[in-house]
Amino acid sequence: MAKQRAKLVVGNWKMHGRLGSNRALLEAVAIGAGSLPEQVGVAVCVPCPYLAQAQALLAGSRVKWGSQDVSAHQGGAYTGEVAAEMVLDFGATYAIVGHSERREYHGESAEFVAVKAQRALLAGLTPIVCVGETLAQREAGETEQVVGAQLDAVLKKLADDAAKIVVAYEPVWAIGTGKSATSTEAQQVHAFLRSRLAAQGATVADVPLLYGGSVKPGNAGELFRQPDIDGGLIGGASLVDEDFLAICAAAGEVARGTVGAADATP
Ligand code: PGA
Repeated sequence: MAKQRAKLVVGNWKMHGRLGSNRALLEAVAIGAGSLPEQVGVAVCVPCPYLAQAQALLAGSRVKWGSQDVSAHQGGAYTGEVAAEMVLDFGATYAIVGHSERREYHGESAEFVAVKAQRALLAGLTPIVCVGETLAQREAGETEQVVGAQLDAVLKKLADDAAKIVVAYEPVWAIGTGKSATSTEAQQVHAFLRSRLAAQGATVADVPLLYGGSVKPGNAGELFRQPDIDGGLIGGASLVDEDFLAICAAAGEVARGTVGAADATP
């Protein structure tokens, strides 16, 4: 049987939320996560202005928090930027880097994303490095080439520290579209990414590989059962407490192995 790694479910709130409405969501997630098996990690990546609120409401719970980006610079005259060390000041654990919305709308190159991943690590945050192909690239048969190059840029930059990252495979055509990759499509790319990581050495081989792109309560279990899918990066569904917690619970069932056992029951 394939090696069972721990599961990790991370919410990506994107540019959603307000101080008032966040409270109920954060409190519900903190309470709900308390009953998950210990093999499941949970986190929410919130807009930076709400890091203090996340810290206040999640500290002491099972739920960790993080940002959706960090500056490539350590500090200085970079108006509007947020340094990784500032994110850490609010007790954060994670920073998403290289989300396709950053690559597309802000022109972030693979090398620039690699610098951001390094900045996050140097500050003491775990970067969640997103990779993914567009529909045109998939249809042209370029998926492995595209995600391989995006990953390689980060692995090259981080060298020995590459084992400390999380990678999220997010096919651009599946993000926010309601059209998730099938579990077979996702697993194929995850297996490819896993082999790319393994080529860097045994410790890097076990880097958590999350799938993102229209993960919902209805498809989460099937995705998380794949041998190289270690959890999810959840956009839209992370804004609804029941949905996000149902996805976390699906990760919990897979981690516990109860799904396999239930399937085997006549
Ligand atoms: P989605 O977004 O779950 O809304 O498709 C995922 C993401 O962009 O991280």
